[in-house]
Amino acid sequence: MGTYTISGSYIQPTFPSLGHSPFASKLPFIRKLGFFNSAACAGFSSFEVKDVSFRPPGTQLYLLKDVSLSLPEKRFGLIFGQSGSGKTTLLQLLAGLSKPTTGSICVQRYDDKGHPIVSPEKLTPERVGIVFQFPERYFLADSVLGEITFGWPRQKGNLQLKQQLALNLQRAINWVGLSGIPLDKDPHSLSGGYKRRLALAIQLVQTPDLLILDEPLAGLDWKARAELVRLLKYLKTELTILVVSHDLKELAALVDCSWRMEMGGLLRKEPLAL
Ligand SMILES: Nc1ncnc2c1ncn2[C@@H]1O[C@H](COP(=O)(O)OP(=O)(O)OP(=O)(O)O)[C@@H](O)[C@H]1O
Ligand SMILES: [Mg+2]
Repeated sequence: MGTYTISGSYIQPTFPSLGHSPFASKLPFIRKLGFFNSAACAGFSSFEVKDVSFRPPGTQLYLLKDVSLSLPEKRFGLIFGQSGSGKTTLLQLLAGLSKPTTGSICVQRYDDKGHPIVSPEKLTPERVGIVFQFPERYFLADSVLGEITFGWPRQKGNLQLKQQLALNLQRAINWVGLSGIPLDKDPHSLSGGYKRRLALAIQLVQTPDLLILDEPLAGLDWKARAELVRLLKYLKTELTILVVSHDLKELAALVDCSWRMEMGGLLRKEPLAL
């Protein structure tokens, strides 16, 4: 593992090349590095939504009906479908921001032959990073560093925790290619593409097992879109990613599994026909 140095107002990458938003409550940031230590044991893990239905409390209308999906680790999943069909609603459930009315959201471990081993584990919110549509609208701090570290523990002590956070910070900044940006720069003055990178870095500091992105390319120009697609291609080698998007062509090369959300909250598996 590399070390970190904060030199002047830049973070100097010393790693080998290897989100606050209103959701800063998803602390603690410190996460294990790696997914279930999968290198150590054979088989694989999969994020699984099983027969999930959702009716907002106090309403009669179901927004999601018997939704099921399975996304193996280090895969890139895409959900597409009409506006108002329930895509964002499903992401909110995956991130733990709402609870399913019925059904379950868990992580299942399988052996090499695809047989489940051990019981499924509940997917907890700490294991999920979510970047909402137009995340830059939620920026609150007046510096890049302030934005990333918003909500971090401020009290004295717990040096080990702070060192680990700093390491995670450096790695996240390197991952998203923000290392050339001064840390005291006003996040609102960044270009559209760099604002999205910053929003990603905020989530990546937590080292989520599952990274969820709602319409990540929306509102960006063609160059920023192409750069973000390249970045997602890289992040796919490190994380499991689930994206909601209308931009099927641009993301098609990354997609391992795809689903269409039908109006009324019905999800069905559908390969991209491109
Ligand atoms: N808390 C709520 N109470 C009642 N209805 C809601 C609530 N939240 C969302 N809805 C409705 O649920 C439906 C699904 O909304 P959702 O935002 O998940 O759609 P979406 O597929 O993400 O759409 P878009 O592509 O426009 O982002 C919409 O009809 C929306 O108005
Ligand atoms: Mg939506």
